[in-house]
Amino acid sequence: MPESMSQIALNQTPVHVRHGSNMGQPLTRREGVLKVTGAATYAADNHPAGMLYAVLAVSSIARGRVTFLDIDAARAHPGVVEVMTPANRPALALDPDEKSDPFMFRLDLLQNDKVRYANQPIAVVIAETLEAATEGAVLLAPRYDVEPARIGLDATETFEPPVVGPGFPTKAQLGDVTAGLAVASKKIEATYETAAQYHNPMEPHAIVATWDGDALSIDTPSQGFAWAKGRLAGLFGLSPDKIHIRSPFLGGGFGCKGLISGPQVLGILAARLVGKPVKLVLRRDQMFGPVGHRAPTRQTLRLGVDSEGNLTAIDHRTKTTSSAFDDFFEAASASSHTLYASPAISTSHEGVRVDTGTPLFMRGPGGAPGSIAVESAIDEMAYACGMDPLTFRLKNYAEVEPISGRPFSSKALRDCYQQGAERFGWRRRVLAPRQMRDAHGLLVGWGVGTATWPAHMFEGHAKAVLRRDGTGIMELGAEDMGQGAWTALAQIAADSLGLDLDQVDFRSGNSDLPDAGVAGGSAHTATAGTAIHNAGGDVIARLAALATSDERSPLFGAGNAGVIARGGRLHRRDDESRSESYADILSRAGLAQIEGNGAGAADAAAHSTYAMHAHGAVFAEVKVDPDLGQMRVTRMVGAFAAGRIINPRMVESQLCGGMIWGVSFALHEQAIMDRKSGRPMNANFAEYHVPVNADVPSVEAILVEEYDPHVNPLGIKGVGEIGITGSAGAVANAVWHATGIRVREFPITLDRLIEPRA
Ligand code: MOS
Repeated sequence: MPESMSQIALNQTPVHVRHGSNMGQPLTRREGVLKVTGAATYAADNHPAGMLYAVLAVSSIARGRVTFLDIDAARAHPGVVEVMTPANRPALALDPDEKSDPFMFRLDLLQNDKVRYANQPIAVVIAETLEAATEGAVLLAPRYDVEPARIGLDATETFEPPVVGPGFPTKAQLGDVTAGLAVASKKIEATYETAAQYHNPMEPHAIVATWDGDALSIDTPSQGFAWAKGRLAGLFGLSPDKIHIRSPFLGGGFGCKGLISGPQVLGILAARLVGKPVKLVLRRDQMFGPVGHRAPTRQTLRLGVDSEGNLTAIDHRTKTTSSAFDDFFEAASASSHTLYASPAISTSHEGVRVDTGTPLFMRGPGGAPGSIAVESAIDEMAYACGMDPLTFRLKNYAEVEPISGRPFSSKALRDCYQQGAERFGWRRRVLAPRQMRDAHGLLVGWGVGTATWPAHMFEGHAKAVLRRDGTGIMELGAEDMGQGAWTALAQIAADSLGLDLDQVDFRSGNSDLPDAGVAGGSAHTATAGTAIHNAGGDVIARLAALATSDERSPLFGAGNAGVIARGGRLHRRDDESRSESYADILSRAGLAQIEGNGAGAADAAAHSTYAMHAHGAVFAEVKVDPDLGQMRVTRMVGAFAAGRIINPRMVESQLCGGMIWGVSFALHEQAIMDRKSGRPMNANFAEYHVPVNADVPSVEAILVEEYDPHVNPLGIKGVGEIGITGSAGAVANAVWHATGIRVREFPITLDRLIEPRA
């Protein structure tokens, strides 16, 4: 049994109980004041002495070769120090096109003159100022051998990818879908298309890289230190302990900072080339290519129901794109594996290679596009049956995970439907579409969608210290993208040590600390939180061993009864009046401090026995101008059950953020590719739309109580991504209910709503 599992098991039936009141409190972000006052230093704010500025030159074609760069002109520009091209780029220990696992992506690191997608880096200009570097990049005036770009879902021939998402099977099957459709009394078939989206956190990828001999220090946003360190160690042929990554603050991530990207590595190469610290920050338009995106999908769903309205068949097929040179396939059909019950389910994926950067996991990968298609199809089927779409969902949601056949570790979806519907006022809904209007004559529509996201865990580690002055330290390399991870994790840390929050020095945000796993997959609080919980348990157990074996301690002999850690003291469990402070125990033992360690990882036995997911139900109201087709989401209520809530304020904020991503998915976000040049035509925030305050007037998240005894010792499920699932479908279904027009291409744009109607 791996060590981490035995530690988890030990803490599930604790000998030493810790009581705390930090978990569950709606604390504000601990670094909030630093952020709002501008005092927080993000990666690009760190300026070591002698630092130079690097700017990428990127390709304006999508496929071909670079035949000329005017390097002389760039070098002659005042302030330009060096131009890095394939001709002088420092050597790497590993070919950037080598790939040994699905989490390793091929990078464009000036290994040759080939262009594989628009906005691919083709040179790096390094200068004394940002302005000089920017001008130098312009002066390169590249020339190309251009080959025709292959863009879109029909660009090239279709094939079956070996795996989808991060290594999931391409196909899954339960029962016989053909038979299920044959016996159905009603069938629908519908095809939905979702657009390409680009992550675009507020803070673009940025790096300040400093070499000191063969030691590398970088300030850069990262959602996963160990992955980044491992990748860099391989590329540069360094031992991982020579690499120091600091990510004190991140301005968002959305998945694109999960792995070290090509441009970040180019910043490091530039620093190596010039022998000075170098800063490289992507311009907003450069985010549309080399740092991942969500690929477009075309999904066909076939559903059958019997005369009672029970599903008899679900067939979900997805076609999606990957780059011409690497593999990542949006696992959208997997959304049909857990949501709705049917005796027959079949899911599959096919791929098409196009001349874009390689897609990557982004805000609910697979689940977000899969969910909008499934929720739309379920809505269409409810209407085909003449049933209220909420009633239809209540009738058909899965009680046991259909494809795997496993029971859920816990599931409070019914409560989510009920509490959400109640709060939203669903029962006042008129079933038929285009029947509701507001006082201004706008069409009003109400839609619902089911939300779900798996309760993943990575592996993480933490180190806990108790000091003779009665304070504690918790150390782990956790990443806070802005979601409040450090606040929630510090709350767990304080409780794990039996101390108040202000007595704990919570240290995080760099790669020299114990690896806390990845801030992704909605698994960070569960993983890092479990590691913290176990590290605290370990140090308290060591402290208790000191006291209970010492005749001079009031706790002497309490070993069998156990102790409780609370308020900086250990108490006898069977007689709480007998206690001793941490400080006294350590002083008498002559120790300045005592240390413990803990790990957090999925309990393999529990995870193979149970299907583990968070659940939710989202209700949306839209108003549509009947003449102009203009749409506004006016109200959203989501009710979510995600196990134990460590910090309700942070969780509500994440869930509301996720619901706003759903609005974005349904109505706003799309990268529009020019099919001729292969370039994104809207690589900026003026034309790549995301919802702003005026687009989302009221969003409410209800936290539905749920106790999951199996998921991990603290009962934590993730909340990072579930908010986008269900929400996009709820908005799309509300648009249908408002207008009677079923738009199957996302985002829904107003031109679709003003087509002449039969
Ligand atoms: Mo995410 S797409 O797991 O950061």
